[in-house]
Amino acid sequence: MAGNSNYPKYQSDGSRLGGLLEWFDARFPLTSLWKAHLSEYYAPKNFNFWYFFGSVALVVLVIQVVTGIFLTMSYKPDGNLNAAGIPGAFAAVEYIMRDVAGGWFIRNMHSTGASAFFIVVYLHMFRGMLYGSYRKPRELIWIFGVLIFLCLMAEAFMGYLLPWGQMSYWGAQVILNLFSAIPVIGPDLSVLARGDYVVSDTTLNRFFAFHVIAVPLVLIGLVVAHVLALHETGSNNPDGVEIKKFKDEKGIPLDGIPFHPYYTIGHDLPAIVIFLFFFFAVVFYWPEGGGYFLEANNFLPADPMKTPNHIAPVWYFTPFYSMLRAMVWNFFWVIPAKLWGVIAMGGGVVILAFLPWLDRSPVKSIRYRGPIFKTLLTIFVIGFLILGYLGAQVPEYCFFGLSWLPGAVIAQIFTFYYFLFFLTMPYWSKIDKCKPVPERVTFK
Ligand code: HEM
Repeated sequence: MAGNSNYPKYQSDGSRLGGLLEWFDARFPLTSLWKAHLSEYYAPKNFNFWYFFGSVALVVLVIQVVTGIFLTMSYKPDGNLNAAGIPGAFAAVEYIMRDVAGGWFIRNMHSTGASAFFIVVYLHMFRGMLYGSYRKPRELIWIFGVLIFLCLMAEAFMGYLLPWGQMSYWGAQVILNLFSAIPVIGPDLSVLARGDYVVSDTTLNRFFAFHVIAVPLVLIGLVVAHVLALHETGSNNPDGVEIKKFKDEKGIPLDGIPFHPYYTIGHDLPAIVIFLFFFFAVVFYWPEGGGYFLEANNFLPADPMKTPNHIAPVWYFTPFYSMLRAMVWNFFWVIPAKLWGVIAMGGGVVILAFLPWLDRSPVKSIRYRGPIFKTLLTIFVIGFLILGYLGAQVPEYCFFGLSWLPGAVIAQIFTFYYFLFFLTMPYWSKIDKCKPVPERVTFK
């Protein structure tokens, strides 16, 4: 055994390829990385549908990076008007869509990819809640996950300014103005983020820099840390039991199977193919996603002199946007309503990081948890979806065409419920009547 790896080095079989591999492996931990993370990474044998989304998220990350590189070749972050009176950045996107060979395809993949990323990541996070994957010893995997989620939100928000349409411009204006609600540093912070007193060409340039390099670098680093932390503790599973407790004489978990080829070929690859089928169906036939993936107002160039009637963020932000709007009416006047809104919106994401310590249930998986968890989690999901719906509506008519009052009140109720769910969790998770947990995973 050479080097500091625990795995024997590759021995050539005498072929040219074998010789090359042996040469390479003597200089780089190729075999040990392959074995530690794929062919000898033992994952529980009872993974189900919910375990697809981590790998699918990796695929979407690659799609976003690759299509992003090609978009950058033809895009220019220019907020000034060109000779035809159209802002340069808006004209660059039109140029990509109409004149660059295959440009429409790359752009549609990137814009659809943004929504796909959030669909996949929301499902991936929900799996974590279903099976208690954030619980000891996987707290750090979850925390890296929450940081990834924050980075994704920043990445999507900044990317959305780049086409320099009406919604790009006014959406950024609304959110950047919110920064000014933060006490003491707020006003300066919002000027710093914009680089100006209003959203302008300077803002576009700094958002471009963050969107194409700074945030992706952090995001990729966090994803690597996320997977490394996962491979240190080993995966959880739908039963929420630790497979490392029962090992054979070689130290291999009795309920574990090698990740490669069983999960790569037998589980994740078919899921990725099905995902790509739906993904490309949207890219080719439904890229605007009914106005949710690409909003109608964003097909108009940004006009700082014309505020759209209805400014709403893209669908994946709307649950948190609803929380922000819900705080406009509140009874705690010591803190201004705008700051309450920022606290609710930011707090809604940050509170997720505390989940490993808020949940005190003796069991991890929903399979063995009691009726309190099941009921409260169901209401939580319904509430989150309703908040998402309300956040996309015009505030005055935000509940199936009825006047503002029911919509505003319902948003307040579910915002309150969202926080109550987490803050009272230490209590109700402890008293819930759980079922006995099997010692080993169940597998049919
Ligand atoms: C770019 C986004 C992300 C990528 C590429 C990613 C990737 C992965 C992969 C490949 C796995 C292993 C396979 C699986 O269990 O599905 C995993 C597991 C996990 N992820 Fe993520 N993830 C992302 C975002 C998140 C977020 C936002 C959270 C939560 C806030 C999260 C929480 C977890 C947890 C708790 C596990 C362990 C699950 C278990 O063992 O049951 N991930 N992730």
